[in-house]
Amino acid sequence: MQFTNEELKKKIDELKAKLSVTVVAHFYQRDEVFEVGDITGDSLELATKTRDDDSEFVLFCGVGFMGQSVKVLSPEKRVVMPKVACCAMARMIDSMYYDDSVKFMEDHGIAKENILPITYINSNAEVKAKVGEMGGLVCTSSNAKKIITTALGEGKKILFVPDRCLGQNIANQMGLKSCVIGDGADPKESDIICYNGFCSVHQLFTLEDIEFYRKKFPGILIATHPECDPAICDASDFVGSTSQIIKYIKELPLDQKVAVGTEFNLVNRLRKKNTYVLSSTKPECPTMNETTLYDVYITLKAIDDGEPINEITIDEKTQKWAKVALERMMDL
Ligand code: 13P
Ligand code: SF4
Repeated sequence: MQFTNEELKKKIDELKAKLSVTVVAHFYQRDEVFEVGDITGDSLELATKTRDDDSEFVLFCGVGFMGQSVKVLSPEKRVVMPKVACCAMARMIDSMYYDDSVKFMEDHGIAKENILPITYINSNAEVKAKVGEMGGLVCTSSNAKKIITTALGEGKKILFVPDRCLGQNIANQMGLKSCVIGDGADPKESDIICYNGFCSVHQLFTLEDIEFYRKKFPGILIATHPECDPAICDASDFVGSTSQIIKYIKELPLDQKVAVGTEFNLVNRLRKKNTYVLSSTKPECPTMNETTLYDVYITLKAIDDGEPINEITIDEKTQKWAKVALERMMDL
């Protein structure tokens, strides 16, 4: 049976009123899904706000690593996802590739005890656990600079996984030397050694796009996410997490034009008149877009029927060490 979005929203509201459930939605979700979110935000905000929430169920509309992070931080919560969609970047590294990266550094004369691993939150729980067990921690796009600054205080080499762009962008901002595993550089010469992962959506933004907008609208500002290539971030007026980009744009004068380099759903939802998508293609995150309003309804209905679907489970050892890595970040 087909329902309109209005009918689905009504059914969702009714089920939400009846159940002990909090619907959480990332900014990249489809508009109609985002609108039914009780908690919305960037990766860090979703992790912290959800930890402080006391519903029995968290219905997480986002990608797998985000739902997993909620479960890791609050194991007593029951976390369900309408679609267990996996972030393409998070899928680029697993525990075996992580071990290979550590070995690469050891093979270049850097002892394991002199390596401090940091994983971007866009990684699965197994990788976070590996990092936690090795004394490392998690960061997000909104706190990466702070986390790296603190980590450097330990005087170790930083192994940064999986996003080479975020790692290099922070290194550039801080005047540090960075390299990417596989680029031929000697890791001993760098402060931050990045794994060669990336976000396929944020690779869509090019210098030509920036030139196009600067030429078309003199005075336009360019705001980008730090998952974009370092050349793009260097040519931007502002670089920040999804929440930071939204705040930046909201504080601009209404007639200030701005072209934004991040996922389409977020940009399209911003003040539309003077806000442009920094791309000639539509930069949609396929996995974020997998979740539909119907999926949200079905997932709530399954809870109501006493048979929750797509529930996140994490084994005890992974849970323990991934929590250590996430909490080290939270403590900072
Ligand atoms: P934020 O932490 O900025 O929300 O980013 C998450 C993400 O996946 C960006 O692609
Ligand atoms: Fe992952 Fe990129 Fe999608 Fe963000 S936009 S969830 S990094 S694939």
